[in-house]
Amino acid sequence: MRFLSNLVNAKKRKKRWVVLTAYDAPTAEIVEQAGVDWILVGDSLGMVVLGYPSTAEVTMEEMIHHCKAARRGAPNAFMIGDMPLKGVEKGPRQALDSAHRFLDEGRCDAVKVEWGPKAPEIMERLIGAGIPVMGHLGLTPQTASTMGGFRTQAREAGSALETLRRAKLLEKLGVFSLILECVPADVAKAITGALKIPVIGIGAGAHCDGQVLVIHDVVGLFSKFTPRFAKRYCEAGQLIRKAVGRYAAEVRSGRFPQKKHSFGMDREELRLFLEQSRGR
Ligand code: KIV
Repeated sequence: MRFLSNLVNAKKRKKRWVVLTAYDAPTAEIVEQAGVDWILVGDSLGMVVLGYPSTAEVTMEEMIHHCKAARRGAPNAFMIGDMPLKGVEKGPRQALDSAHRFLDEGRCDAVKVEWGPKAPEIMERLIGAGIPVMGHLGLTPQTASTMGGFRTQAREAGSALETLRRAKLLEKLGVFSLILECVPADVAKAITGALKIPVIGIGAGAHCDGQVLVIHDVVGLFSKFTPRFAKRYCEAGQLIRKAVGRYAAEVRSGRFPQKKHSFGMDREELRLFLEQSRGR
């Protein structure tokens, strides 16, 4: 309760939340040290790390494995675990078991549940059990195939009103925050203004209370496609490719390793070794 009222008060003071994904220990460590507000172990993991064609393939085991890793790297961050489709599709009972695994094994502080046919019942059950839940409306990648693919949502008055209705319902159910993905900026502005909880946008314009992006998009590590809303702040993929190219060239030319990269041994031990290894 205190947590929720702190968020509502921070929103009143016009706080802007910075949220970023991370899926492993070294990245989570960097993201925590850089000072983001919340780390999301998103099921985007499936596409940007595990090489699946969509997020629908991600399993609970994979999510828990990566939450554990991220937590080792970021022991103090507020960390949200993304409930994969395979962890919620059977309904509230399965979702409650999955959410407990995120908290107990994955050591997350909260879970995120994407909108879907059973989302309100699932959220009600989780929140009733005292689990902090974040909602996710607009483009919901787990069910994108039923929405005509990865495309902007709520572009017509009717679907925009439906998104607003769902947002209000989730707030009433007690979610502590909401992600709005790929909706027109004006719709996101109206929804942000209508809710007391922080609305975190991704492809939802500048009027949300905060922003979330996928780290691989931010640093240029995922190049299969770049969503229009994702700003690249560096080209880590190019840097890594260059570094690997130099490593390969140096191994092939004999320039690596040098003496400083090698280990020596006591001269007498070496003499004995060479003497005794002869003829073996
Ligand atoms: O899985 C994820 O990374 C997400 C964000 C894109 C919001 O859900």
